[in-house]
Amino acid sequence: MSRKIYVLDTTLRDGEQVPGAKLNLQEKMEVAKQLIRLNVDMMEVGFPSSSKGDFEAVKAISKMASGDTVITALGRAVRSDIDAIYESLKEAHAPMIHIVLGSSGVHMEKKFKKTPEQILEMGAEAVKYAKKLMPQVQYSLEDASRSELEYMWQTIEAVVKAGATIINIPDTVGFAVPEKFGSLIYQLNNRLKNLNPNVLLSVHCHNDTGLATANTLAAIRNGADKVECTINGIGERAGNTSLEEVVMGIKLHPEYYGGYTTIKTQEIYTTSRMVSAVMGLDVQVNKAITGENAFAHSSGIHQDGLLKSKDVYEIIEPQDIGAPPMELVLTARSGRHAFEHILEKVGYQINEESKQKVYTDFLAMADQKKEVYDYDIENLMKQYPPEILDKKESTQLWELVDFEVVYNNISPTATVKVRRGENISCEEKIGNGPIDALYTAIISAIVTPITLLEYRIHNISRGKESLGKASIQILHEEKLYQGKAIEKDIIRASAIALINAINKTIQNK
Ligand code: KIV
Ligand code: ZN
Repeated sequence: MSRKIYVLDTTLRDGEQVPGAKLNLQEKMEVAKQLIRLNVDMMEVGFPSSSKGDFEAVKAISKMASGDTVITALGRAVRSDIDAIYESLKEAHAPMIHIVLGSSGVHMEKKFKKTPEQILEMGAEAVKYAKKLMPQVQYSLEDASRSELEYMWQTIEAVVKAGATIINIPDTVGFAVPEKFGSLIYQLNNRLKNLNPNVLLSVHCHNDTGLATANTLAAIRNGADKVECTINGIGERAGNTSLEEVVMGIKLHPEYYGGYTTIKTQEIYTTSRMVSAVMGLDVQVNKAITGENAFAHSSGIHQDGLLKSKDVYEIIEPQDIGAPPMELVLTARSGRHAFEHILEKVGYQINEESKQKVYTDFLAMADQKKEVYDYDIENLMKQYPPEILDKKESTQLWELVDFEVVYNNISPTATVKVRRGENISCEEKIGNGPIDALYTAIISAIVTPITLLEYRIHNISRGKESLGKASIQILHEEKLYQGKAIEKDIIRASAIALINAINKTIQNK
């Protein structure tokens, strides 16, 4: 039987606990609006008693969220915290109070210095109080994965009796392993559904040993109704369960998990990049689902297979999560099939006699540059006499003829000369910094309506002569394009990455 799995996003509460990731009100609102577009069922947006800033942010998001998205905020099992939650949430269309209280021996003895009976009483009292204020109350048994089953069950019985509508089982310290956690959820869920079938069982996992997604999915397989996650898996220490991994895991195996979510998966990529940008937390390049390399293929065997049929090596299509199309990244390991495919894509067909020589030259270039992009192929082809070509149908693309960047504190200035066929264009612009000046000059010279979404540079080799890689993402006519370039000169790499991305908008016409 297929059941709906509810998704609670806690990027704006647990995610925001990452040092340095604190957001201002405007940034929180921007992320909250995007989470609504992603269609999360619930979002936890702060801890109102912790600061005035958090209180105001929860209040503002509550006012803004007019639809069915449940808005919740966290507090301890004390009246003052519950009052703050109520005051900040009361204008929300669908508010829910979230109370947390430890249930493990170590939390009760060392953190609270209270007996299990006192803690149980405190939790039930808090829920009773919250329930008078709002109909929806979630109760979290903090450190549940290190708590005793029978004590947890007594607590659950008491708080459900007091009016809790969701019971949340957190693996607060990332201690759980999938089989045991799954079995715990199975037992609790059986008892809970007998006690009150309307109360949802939820899980909240941390990633200290890299098992947050596995533990969450094991819980779903064993009956959990709701999952708590963050975008890009950000959160305390090693982070929380990553929303995109769990959602796509369920989508790939709906029968196995016996459920579905109503997340708009096409919004995942945009959400991931927005959260990364506002929080200043890079997404790991090989991060499942949303990493820069998640849909990039570089080995010859894989590229050959993909060119024969995408499903040979692709289980999720980039467009399923709203990411730019899959990229074949040419490297020294790319075989001839991939190389000739890219050659043809940029418009060249070489005669039989010259193929070996050009391929050998490509391998030498790839050894030096590590990754080879369309622009590099165009440059490579310029070295040969026209006789080696059987055909040249190159769509005329933009190329960087020359550039100069003058950097000073007052007015960084860039001058660029770009060419597309016979059309040569020059511009000089001032910017907030050298890259801003350079990009403003290029965009103005090319005269194309694009929005720059992301710009990143990083070293990809060592030493003074190291190679720098620039990657950018642009939006053109509502489609995402990315451009990359590797050069010793990082300013030049930045210029070419932008031109590569703009050229993709022409090639995709
Ligand atoms: O990790 C945790 O235990 C929490 C609770 C508040 C759910 O974040
Ligand atoms: Zn947590």
